[in-house]
Amino acid sequence: MAKMKVIQVPKPKADFEIVEREIPEPGPGQIRIKVHACGVCHSDSVTKEGLFPNIQYPRVPGHEVVGVVDAIGASVLGWKVGQRVGVGWHGGNCGYCNSCRRGDAFACENLTAITGLTSDGGYGEYMIARSEAVALVPEGLSASDAAPLMCAGVTTFNALRNSGARPGDLVAVFGLGGLGHLGVQYAARLGFRTVGIARGKDKEALAKQLGAVGYIDNAVEDPAAALQKLGGAKVILATVTDAEAMAAAIGGLGTRGTFLVIGATGPFEINPLFLLLGSRSIKGWYSGTSIDSQDTMAFSALEGVRSMNEIFPFERAPEAYARMMSGQARFRAVITMPSA
Ligand SMILES: NC(=O)c1ccc[n+]([C@@H]2O[C@H](COP(=O)([O-])OP(=O)(O)OC[C@H]3O[C@@H](n4cnc5c(N)ncnc54)[C@H](OP(=O)(O)O)[C@@H]3O)[C@@H](O)[C@H]2O)c1
Ligand SMILES: [Zn+2]
Repeated sequence: MAKMKVIQVPKPKADFEIVEREIPEPGPGQIRIKVHACGVCHSDSVTKEGLFPNIQYPRVPGHEVVGVVDAIGASVLGWKVGQRVGVGWHGGNCGYCNSCRRGDAFACENLTAITGLTSDGGYGEYMIARSEAVALVPEGLSASDAAPLMCAGVTTFNALRNSGARPGDLVAVFGLGGLGHLGVQYAARLGFRTVGIARGKDKEALAKQLGAVGYIDNAVEDPAAALQKLGGAKVILATVTDAEAMAAAIGGLGTRGTFLVIGATGPFEINPLFLLLGSRSIKGWYSGTSIDSQDTMAFSALEGVRSMNEIFPFERAPEAYARMMSGQARFRAVITMPSA
């Protein structure tokens, strides 16, 4: 049996390890992907740190996967060996309880629906994906261009395009990491009056280069007051990983504004009066499906939206992950395969 290398988490909180495994065969409804690139998302920490119950280990993380179709299982229609494809966090729908089709993969009773968490992901030379979870990658996007779009891209693009904001509306993107730096580009290209919020002065020039017309340094300025000074935000896309920081920005919403919770933080307090008196809302947004990913890639190719990547060879995935977790990655760490 031919072998492949993968980087796995042996158990929650343990160090990554590189191991050899047999190259898996795709079962019915599945596709095998020869991985070319995989983005390193903050949500990989859910796998690495064991933040979700009932997950089986060892587990190969990685849900920003781009590669080529390498083998196709029984009853798969519409895919051909050699096509360039991507897979994101949403790993498809196994048909067991249909939670995913209702838009809540975390409720999946069969735990098959999340790439790199409930099934092995893209920190490896090959991976298996359910065919309905696979998105076609357009010409014009390289593997490392496309990989971060499979989670960071689709999550921010999909959240913004469904946010109710219209061209000219004030939209704030809070947190300028992997998701946020793409969020600023999408918000600007969608015609919103885009403001970036991050801690420190050093990201201001970048936020403006990406299309923001304003920048708020939340380390020295109250982001809620600063947004109110600008008239109040129609949408705040909150990608920060810190609950306290997130809570501090909610007061920046304008009348009928929506606070979109993207970052997976701990609990925080909200003043109900602030919400009801201005008909404001707070709403979570969960990534997207493979078709949403295709839309994201098409829009990105059309509008020149690109992730700014730090590229790491496959063996250095642990370093890429550490760099992302420490906030040093500028702005997405992406691992690439030697054979790509
Ligand atoms: N909803 C979804 O479907 C979905 C999809 C993907 C990811 N996520 C979640 O989204 C979050 C972001 O992911 P990511 O991959 O973009 O992570 P990331 O690259 O690590 O970026 C997180 C950013 O948050 C910033 N931040 C943290 N605390 C802050 C504070 N107090 N003030 C200002 N900025 C602060 C960091 O700034 P510094 O650079 O200054 O440290 C960093 O730039 C994670 O919680 C991830 O799990 C959710
Ligand atoms: Zn992700």
